[in-house]
Amino acid sequence: MSWPRRLLLRYLFPALLLHGLGEGSALLHPDSRSHPRSLEKSAWRAFKESQCHHMLKHLHNGARITVQMPPTIEGHWVSTGCEVRSGPEFITRSYRFYHNNTFKAYQFYYGSNQIRLRQASWIIRGGTEADYQLHNVQVICHTEAVAEKLGQQVNRTCPGFLADGGPWVQDVAYDLWREENGCECTKAVNFAMHELQLIRVEKQYLHHNLDHLVEELFLGDIHTDATQRMFYRPSSYQPPLQNAKNHDHACIACRIIYRSDEHHPPILPPKADLTIGLHGEWVSQRCEVRP
Ligand SMILES: *[C@@H]1O[C@H](CO)[C@@H](O)[C@H](O)[C@H]1NC(C)=O
Ligand SMILES: *[C@@H]1O[C@H](CO)[C@@H](O)[C@H](O)[C@H]1NC(C)=O
Repeated sequence: MSWPRRLLLRYLFPALLLHGLGEGSALLHPDSRSHPRSLEKSAWRAFKESQCHHMLKHLHNGARITVQMPPTIEGHWVSTGCEVRSGPEFITRSYRFYHNNTFKAYQFYYGSNQIRLRQASWIIRGGTEADYQLHNVQVICHTEAVAEKLGQQVNRTCPGFLADGGPWVQDVAYDLWREENGCECTKAVNFAMHELQLIRVEKQYLHHNLDHLVEELFLGDIHTDATQRMFYRPSSYQPPLQNAKNHDHACIACRIIYRSDEHHPPILPPKADLTIGLHGEWVSQRCEVRP
């Protein structure tokens, strides 16, 4: 299966925007780099042929979870809230995978944890390995301070990269990578989309309600050391994205992120931090995966 993709990455306080193209395959082949096209085709066929191999799991609370093997990831998937990565980085994601195997992904970076992280469950079992290729990565900064800082960072990391311009300014899209001219400086922000190397889709009916299907897309985990991210292959998952088409209606962040784009980043409503009281009994929501 191939996913030429467009990728948009944005920093809010930092704001960054990326465009890319990628290829995914169910079967990783040692020489996949030299024959990506033919591999895509056979991998896609393998996907189709095993489409009916679903796994069912009944959780103790009665919720039914179906794991889609292989995963169909066409659609629009959004974060269910602000996610925290090491750094710390605060991020929301909005990824679209199209029928023609292209994708467009937004990553919105925030200056702080505007809202509480909704701690999503991690999962186990059948992830699908994939590969991808970026064609275009852009960044947009939504404050002057971040624009200036990021521009300097790019200038420092890739001397000469800003050849045509002065300092970066707010609300302008800058290329970090464009396939046509070979200009590339994604390492200035340690950018990689290796999360697309591990994919898993789960469907579950909320509250025993057959009308209330929620689909979740789990993508690979991100290395905790930012400088390692470009080399790290995921071995567990990030919190899942939800399919915007039938997300949990209680998820206000999903709606806001769904409507956002590179010029209208999602501004999530502030939430009061709950006072931390650990007393009580706490359990996993489902089987969790660790690296
Ligand atoms: C793929 O489909 C999307 C959405 O319909 C479209 O915007 C894009 O231009 C298409 N890309 C290619 C390479 O056909
Ligand atoms: C980029 O770095 C060079 C060399 O340090 C410096 O002369 C130039 O002013 C910088 N450009 C920007 C836009 O920061």
